[in-house]
Amino acid sequence: GPATAGLIARYADRLPLAPNDPVVSLGEGSTPLVHAEKLSAHLGCEVWIKVEGANPSGSFKDRGMTVAISRALAEGATTVACASTGNTSASAAAYAAKAGMKALVLLPAGKIATGKLAQAVVYGARIVQLDGNFDNALEVARKLSENYPVALVNSVNPDRLQGQKTAAFEIVDALGDAPDLHVLPVGNAGNISAYWMGYREYHTDGLATRLPQMWGFQASGAAPLVHGHPVLNPETVATAIRIGNPASADLAKAAVADSEGRFGAVTDDQILEAQSVLAAWEGIFVEPASASGVAGLLAAHRAGDLPSGLRIAVTCTGNGLKDVDTAMRDRSVDPDVLPAEAAEVARWLGLES
Ligand code: F0G
Repeated sequence: GPATAGLIARYADRLPLAPNDPVVSLGEGSTPLVHAEKLSAHLGCEVWIKVEGANPSGSFKDRGMTVAISRALAEGATTVACASTGNTSASAAAYAAKAGMKALVLLPAGKIATGKLAQAVVYGARIVQLDGNFDNALEVARKLSENYPVALVNSVNPDRLQGQKTAAFEIVDALGDAPDLHVLPVGNAGNISAYWMGYREYHTDGLATRLPQMWGFQASGAAPLVHGHPVLNPETVATAIRIGNPASADLAKAAVADSEGRFGAVTDDQILEAQSVLAAWEGIFVEPASASGVAGLLAAHRAGDLPSGLRIAVTCTGNGLKDVDTAMRDRSVDPDVLPAEAAEVARWLGLES
């Protein structure tokens, strides 16, 4: 289908919908793949940023949600539920609204970026904060869906990963082949698994001649896949990936092992530095979690651990406007006030004495 259509229209033959199933779409996907010139020069590689914050609700979750909500509607569900660190809930609330369904979102109390909470509120979801972290909330959401008539739209729902694999298709479609390396943040570990599915599917069907290495980066205070065991009390400034027991850990480990890739951990300082680099060098404002792939690349380069000349795709998962509190925390928010005259501004700029 045309590039302005949603994912299901564009990749219908690769998604698990029957021809007459309802399609709930907000025009997701077809996000920019931006050549990051300064970052490329710095790393000695060819770096492309997949700007997933350009999706309708501001994150990659919309790719999975269009499929999950369409399927839930086809099966007669009237209420969908999810646990979330904020983006899944924003997306579920948006697509449920579009579908005329109710959304119930279970959030870890006090750890959701304001923009994401605002989205759930304004889209009209029923919101519950749970006294616990994301892992606890997911447990509750799973049990609710097992025992009550609510459809679970977390990424443990396989329809979600089916939708999310389309980002890999778009990258291959744009670059003409798979990159050498695909780098992305990892939280609940669904997205890295979905990309790997997508790359393999295109490779199997002869639409890509090779497969990328998958590099997944977690925040150092929430890095169960790096440590090899769950983290009981995950902590990070990147609240989107504040997850200690990823539901798709096994799929993600297989993606990294089969692609000869790696998991790595990045500190909160490295994440915030990468957020600044993306904005100031490339004009791309992402939320903290979304910067962890770039943080990982910068760290690998600094450690002499990044071969030069690679073609690299990096997924930036969510829009910076979702969490402006963190973005403004260590920055001046007190611009000078000048008389509304060009000469005054010119003097302030040092263009006139
Ligand atoms: N980046 C952002 C901005 C996210 O919101 C998430 C996950 C990830 C990366 C990690 O993706 O879980 O597939 O490994 N957010 C989920 C949520 C957990 O509830 O919004 P993952």
